[in-house]
Amino acid sequence: MIENVLPEIKTEVPGEKSKLLLQKRKELVSRGISNAIPIFVEEAKGALIKDVDGNIFLDFASGIGMQNAGHCDDEVVEAIKEQVGKYIHPCFHVAMYEPYINVAQKLVSIAPGKYEKKVLLTNSGAEAVENAIKLSRKYTKKRVILSAEGSFHGRTYFALTLTSKVKPYKHGFGPFIPDVYKIPYAYCYRCNHTYKYPECDLECIERIKKFIATEVSPEDIAAVIVEPIQGEGGIIVPPKRYLQELQNLCKENGFVFIVDEIQTGFGRTGYTFASEYFGLEPDLITVAKSIANGIPLSAVVGRKEILDAPDEGGVGGTYAGSPLACVAANVVIEKFARGEFLANAKRLGKIIEEKLERMFERYSVIGDVRGTAAMWGIEFVKDRNSKQPYPEFVKEVIKFSYQRGVIFISAGIYSNVLRLLPPLVMTQEQAEYGLNVLEEAIKYCLQNGL
Ligand SMILES: Cc1ncc(COP(=O)(O)O)c(C=O)c1O
Repeated sequence: MIENVLPEIKTEVPGEKSKLLLQKRKELVSRGISNAIPIFVEEAKGALIKDVDGNIFLDFASGIGMQNAGHCDDEVVEAIKEQVGKYIHPCFHVAMYEPYINVAQKLVSIAPGKYEKKVLLTNSGAEAVENAIKLSRKYTKKRVILSAEGSFHGRTYFALTLTSKVKPYKHGFGPFIPDVYKIPYAYCYRCNHTYKYPECDLECIERIKKFIATEVSPEDIAAVIVEPIQGEGGIIVPPKRYLQELQNLCKENGFVFIVDEIQTGFGRTGYTFASEYFGLEPDLITVAKSIANGIPLSAVVGRKEILDAPDEGGVGGTYAGSPLACVAANVVIEKFARGEFLANAKRLGKIIEEKLERMFERYSVIGDVRGTAAMWGIEFVKDRNSKQPYPEFVKEVIKFSYQRGVIFISAGIYSNVLRLLPPLVMTQEQAEYGLNVLEEAIKYCLQNGL
């Protein structure tokens, strides 16, 4: 049982037990899987993780946004235990079970969009994305899909084709799938336009309009998929109008508007869905990560007629919507429906924003700070004029921080963004502690010639 409120480091990190396991990991596990922190976990609760050497860490990663409800939420743990005692997985294609229906019912009632909805459950984020694409193509009988520059939609082949980061995700894995094109995203910090938003009047949207006038016929476009805030891409928060205009463009042309809420969903932005924050009504939403407190589950939720487009048997999967995941998700969704977590996400946002703004004023190595509620990115640059990315600095900040018991991860197409995704149960005391360690890390790196 973790009894601490704050981190406690008892050994060097990694400690002896983690080092032994690391050796085995190197021998046995594919090099292709990255690990942000060199520790092995013994227990996790709320915003804390204890490693096998007895060190306790404060978690600002939430398993890459998967633990919004906090590690091992008591009610989720109880629901899973109870379910294991009944049945584990008869497979929904063979013999159906009620928890699946309950998840579907809850998702259609909380997802934005004032129209009739249906749900398809899958296992991972990438799988939800794949299915959203299949549904869109089948429904529209069209083939072209547009995704945004800088986006991340997963590692399976279609999801990877939609994704925009070559190394390490795409390099050497081609060829990719045809009929996918990239459209500009509103990454205002790195936009070369003479005028910044709003003076630019969303030139990126004009470029999208030009693209569909010059490169691909709108008659061939099935869907546009977009992250409301790009997560892996570096916590890029576009102007609300960018997403609204993109939605309008989809409506006007009959493209399915798919919003990938796999990272932004379940409270990250202080709203259950970021689409609510941005005032969007997507045709399809993909969700995963935090929906089931870490048990693999993902979903596509959206317009009934699109979800009903496939022939019977055209979508699904053996493990998809497993009962353990469904009972966990039912607890999580009920908690969100009761309004739990959201107020704290907003509270955390205020604490983080204030502290990061002060850091921005103090340290010119910080080129940009952006985010909302419990989703923040700090973009590090070698100097503010050239904006040359500084990924080495981020690496060192992460190392210094975990050695002092605070876990951060990186993001960004140049890997130069420090990403903050705290569990939404993190307390003010914990948030302030973690942010102080972050500032110490920046000072340390600057003093040591980085
Ligand atoms: C926006 C977005 N889409 C899709 C995915 C892929 O999810 P998974 O890793 O569960 O396949 C991720 C994962 O980080 C994501 O952030």
